[in-house]
Amino acid sequence: MTDEEYMRIAINEAIKGTGYTSPNPLVGAVIVKDGKILNKDYHHKYGEFHAERNAILNCKEDMQGADIYVTLEPCCHYGKTPPCTDIIIESGIKRVFIGSADPNPLVAGKGAEKLRSNGIEVIEGVLKDECDKINDVFFHYITHKTPFVAMKYAMTADGKIATRTGASQWITGETARENVHKSRLKYSGIMVGIGTVLKDDPMLTCRITGGRNPIRIICDSKLRTPFESNIVKTAGEVPTIIATVSEDKELIEKYTDKNITVIQTSDDNGHVDLNELMIKLGEMKIDGILLEGGGELNFSALKAGIVNKIECYIAPKIFGGTEAKSPVGGIGVDVPDEAFVFEKPDVSFFDDDILLEWRLK
Ligand SMILES: NC(=O)c1ccc[n+]([C@@H]2O[C@H](COP(=O)([O-])OP(=O)(O)OC[C@H]3O[C@@H](n4cnc5c(N)ncnc54)[C@H](OP(=O)(O)O)[C@@H]3O)[C@@H](O)[C@H]2O)c1
Repeated sequence: MTDEEYMRIAINEAIKGTGYTSPNPLVGAVIVKDGKILNKDYHHKYGEFHAERNAILNCKEDMQGADIYVTLEPCCHYGKTPPCTDIIIESGIKRVFIGSADPNPLVAGKGAEKLRSNGIEVIEGVLKDECDKINDVFFHYITHKTPFVAMKYAMTADGKIATRTGASQWITGETARENVHKSRLKYSGIMVGIGTVLKDDPMLTCRITGGRNPIRIICDSKLRTPFESNIVKTAGEVPTIIATVSEDKELIEKYTDKNITVIQTSDDNGHVDLNELMIKLGEMKIDGILLEGGGELNFSALKAGIVNKIECYIAPKIFGGTEAKSPVGGIGVDVPDEAFVFEKPDVSFFDDDILLEWRLK
């Protein structure tokens, strides 16, 4: 097997931790000797041992002269657990293959350096892009202190996210919708506009068995979220935030009585100030947000420059209708040169539906 193939196994290990490591990164590790995999493991949960430590501690075989493939540069500092560089040095491992460099200022290059100064050969950048992608939330949050925002929508082949009557359930098939629930596991927050709450009365929960729910964030400038909505009715069980510009203390208290956290921001043309909201959510340790629309909020989010990635599902059907909404509404741009531009997408299929993932250029 090639170094890339071993690293891909480490990536598959890493993603097993999705939804449980935040605000830590996803990390996987594979120990190999003479072409045989001695052990593989991952970072299971925030606060628990890192991938390298798990893989080394649970390895039943002699690691003298072995290689380890790690998706992220090993840490060299004391955090909630001891440095991974130390246990690698003690294990007898002689070569370390690294995927991503760690942007955490406490590690950044120092992990690799410590290994080298202890006589270990370090090979960096193996499947770097793939390793970077699994930790896009972590990399963004640690450098910006605001959440990584992925704008997700499902549309028809003619670019509609609802019919002319506003009905949108369902556009894609079951397999694609199940993948959305996996995404809800990846991001610690999920955000929609009040328009979507009023139209769809969504739950915005994660329906993966045993999965934790993201924190629900409703952008509701004038506090119009109905008390009989699913969001308010379930706020006792699912953490919920309403972002508003309203200063109506009495009404705010009614929401807080229902276990909802109300965040006030400055008034941005009558709406919630999204940049200010991102700073406040970052301070609350929300590192990633799945933005699930609708079109009005999506346009504002793009305009505010808070969107880092698009997750666009396309179903092989057409709704038509001049009045039917598209994923991004608002006033739009005037000329093509003003378009929001993204990189070449990653493409995957879910039965008959397509998922296109674009990252900001
Ligand atoms: N297919 C899909 O993937 C999908 C996903 C989501 C929604 N939908 C569909 O989309 C439709 C709802 O979309 P929509 O565009 O009408 O509503 P929306 O984007 O969900 O909500 C828009 C509202 O959010 C509030 N808001 C608060 N802060 C804002 C800000 N900074 N910028 C913009 N808006 C802000 C505004 O009202 P206030 O200022 O008064 O608060 C605004 O009217 C429904 O038909 C729903 O079914 C489809």
